[in-house]
Amino acid sequence: MGRVARPAPQARARLLISCLLTSEERIHMKRIGVLTSGGDGPGLNPCIRAVVRMGIHLGMSVMGIRRGYAGLIAGEIEELTLRSVGGILGRGGTFLSTSRSAEFTTPQGQLTALRNLHRFDIEGLVVIGGNGSLTGAQKLHEQGVKVIGLPGTIDNDLGGTDITIGVDTALNTILDAVDKIKDTASSHNRAFIIETMGRNCGYLALMGALAGGAELALIPENNDISLEAVSNLLKDVYVRGKNHCIIVVAEGWKPGTAALAAYLNAQKEQQGFEVRTTVLGHVQRGGSPTAYDRILATRLGAAAAEALYAGRSGVMIGWIDGKIAETPLEEVIKPTNKIKPDVLRLARVMER
Ligand code: F6P
Repeated sequence: MGRVARPAPQARARLLISCLLTSEERIHMKRIGVLTSGGDGPGLNPCIRAVVRMGIHLGMSVMGIRRGYAGLIAGEIEELTLRSVGGILGRGGTFLSTSRSAEFTTPQGQLTALRNLHRFDIEGLVVIGGNGSLTGAQKLHEQGVKVIGLPGTIDNDLGGTDITIGVDTALNTILDAVDKIKDTASSHNRAFIIETMGRNCGYLALMGALAGGAELALIPENNDISLEAVSNLLKDVYVRGKNHCIIVVAEGWKPGTAALAAYLNAQKEQQGFEVRTTVLGHVQRGGSPTAYDRILATRLGAAAAEALYAGRSGVMIGWIDGKIAETPLEEVIKPTNKIKPDVLRLARVMER
């Protein structure tokens, strides 16, 4: 009888792991891919790490795709190991890099992406990103690719989850800025307009205002506060003897920060306060993820690898009422309102 060839070390490890698994857990998929796409945010690295570690635990190999869909089209793909995701848990950004790929929105771009998935034997894909990225994931799902989406955006503007990965860290960054601006505002007796990111969603602005004790939050979901009403609020705050007035404005609020600043500056004599503006910008996207974001990202990332392994596709893994929840991608990318009426009411009562 001829000698049976010993499997290579990596295959041996896979065999060993598969022996430790229950029959339901036995290997279904051999190789999956993971990419981050769209705007980055804190928590993407812990999320990739969880996909890789759970994937390997289940006996799959995990390929990292660089620069999101742009890298999938260009074939920038390499295997990730337990070691290659070591030391990234606390790092902001995404070590795989990200991009917004215009090419992927074209049929030719999607075809090249599909070819590369076949070329690299990738049977399932985890896409971590926001609305645009998950719209791309849905396109791949429609073309027969097994895809699981994960909510990675500071905007918190997706359905199918109470909170997205990165929001908690971004909120803490906003809070830090509000606290610091309040110091200088009080010293100079000034009003400040602080603009937050969030695209068309006012979640970051409202929650930042609530946590930071701002005098007003202006958000697209509650757009019935006129410029005149804001000016009257400044006057009222001044007359009541406060030495600052903080207004947190979501970038999606209309008519926008610049129009508000111009209006308030023109009313300076009547309002009492001089007005300054701070646009927080991309600082909100950086920084080491908070404990909450690391744990959320780890839970969702691990669940995504498990879902692919079990053969599921076309869903986003989110967090609803303290539990993992799967929602069809086509649902999560529909416009959604994340502002709960009771939270808005609470914020309005606190704004004094
Ligand atoms: O979607 C995340 C986000 O940071 C939004 O809040 C913001 O409107 C946008 O991305 C900014 O995009 P960019 O980094 O391409 O300027």
